[in-house]
Amino acid sequence: MEIFCMLKIDILTLFPEMFTGPFDSSIIKRAKDKGLVEINIHNLRDWGLGKHKTVDDRPYGGGVGMVLMIEPLYNALKSLRPQTANHRPLVILTTPQGKVFTQKIAKKLSKEKSLLIICGHYEGYDERIRDLADEELSIGDYVLTGGELPAMVITETVTRLLPGVLEKPDAVKNESFSPLLEYPQYTRPENFKGKRVPKVLLSGHHAEIEKWRVKQALKRTKKRRPDLL
Ligand code: ADE
Repeated sequence: MEIFCMLKIDILTLFPEMFTGPFDSSIIKRAKDKGLVEINIHNLRDWGLGKHKTVDDRPYGGGVGMVLMIEPLYNALKSLRPQTANHRPLVILTTPQGKVFTQKIAKKLSKEKSLLIICGHYEGYDERIRDLADEELSIGDYVLTGGELPAMVITETVTRLLPGVLEKPDAVKNESFSPLLEYPQYTRPENFKGKRVPKVLLSGHHAEIEKWRVKQALKRTKKRRPDLL
């Protein structure tokens, strides 16, 4: 029997309820059920200050909106992080100002033992919070309300790369961004209102099919994403 390593992902958020649907279905659910990933959602408010469990305050120097304070986050990290240095999780802060998250970064993260994702706050956070993170990641050049969706995107992308999660791990190799866009795929019917499946795919000639797929993947990448070449 193969032994797979488990990845532990802790997520710190002000909106834990957002995670229930996406993390309880499909690949992530299966990976959790198989014991390949452990995902823990923590409410940052549990480390809020005072009677009201305050997590944000007005910005020094004035301005609109509230700013996430460093103390609740610092205390959360302190209590979530194991004491031993070799079990220290990689701490990720989601922010539109971070490095753009790619499949390459996902592969790197999938080799870690433990990730701790801090969901950024839409109105901003105390600059000193940056020092608590090992990596700042953005999921694209657009601004979301908070870091919850980015944390889900990162978790899903990394989880499906873990050994044992996908039933056909070879499928990952042929996927888009590894390093070309994926070749076109077809299934029944052979002819749909005059749109026919390419003949070569019906030929049963595996070498020819492979050649055709590589050619199509290259053609597609050149046309749609020349920056990947
Ligand atoms: N928070 C808000 N927008 C974001 C983005 N695009 N990526 C990561 N975190 C964010």
